Amino acid sequence: MEYHVVIPAAGTGKRMGMEKNKLLVYIDEIPVLVHTLKIFEKDNWCKSITLVIHKQDRKEIRDLVEQFQLRKIAAMVEGGSERQQSVYKGLQQLQSECIVLIHDGARPFVKQKYLHQLVEKANHYGGAVLAVPVKDTIKKVRNRIVEETIDRSTLWSIQTPQAFQLHLIMNAHKKAEEDGYIGTDDASLLERFGGKVVVVEGDYENFKITTPEDLIFANAIIQRQKGNE
Ligand code: CTP
Ligand code: MG
Repeated sequence: MEYHVVIPAAGTGKRMGMEKNKLLVYIDEIPVLVHTLKIFEKDNWCKSITLVIHKQDRKEIRDLVEQFQLRKIAAMVEGGSERQQSVYKGLQQLQSECIVLIHDGARPFVKQKYLHQLVEKANHYGGAVLAVPVKDTIKKVRNRIVEETIDRSTLWSIQTPQAFQLHLIMNAHKKAEEDGYIGTDDASLLERFGGKVVVVEGDYENFKITTPEDLIFANAIIQRQKGNE
């Protein structure tokens, strides 16, 4: 099977607290974004990469594409002020019906086997997300008073990639924009209209690099991967 991927990379990485976009920070001599792109470069099912970037990063990213000989980037478009807008701009680059994966540039540790499972499930059901069971106990709290402990067996932490039949996610984004609705992930835009989204169980290594200590975890994962090669 085959798919196309849209990678939102147009954030500024405020929570990382560095002067530059966190995706351009190096871990083991390779920028975070390049670690992510390499996963799709290596996957035979991946036919093209649409990269959504921030205007100020264009030159640096163009140089990285050259330096690391990345071959699958079909378009580099500028994003919007919210992640959702960035994704929608990326999706608009895709021409004909296909399976599209949407994957955060900030998640450089997704494993190839999950990409294929997501594509197969989206092809069958319409939408599929990678997720892991919640480890902590989650309580609903109002004004620092616990109202309820939610049954953990029903709770999953949702990651990316999220995979969709293109027409379904395009329609969902279009409607969200018309309604001024901002969701916390792409699948939620489809769920609003009863679209079916299935869960593929992934692993905890596919975390999103967000705050400074995440760079320490990321470095540890890379050192272990190198040891296994
Ligand atoms: N993203 C994007 N366009 C935006 C905001 C975010 O393309 N307007 C991308 C980020 O580059 C990242 C992914 O969406 O790859 C997930 O967002 P997040 O982890 O929140 O990254 P940032 O928004 O850059 O970080 P922060 O929220 O700390 O500023
Ligand atoms: Mg953000």
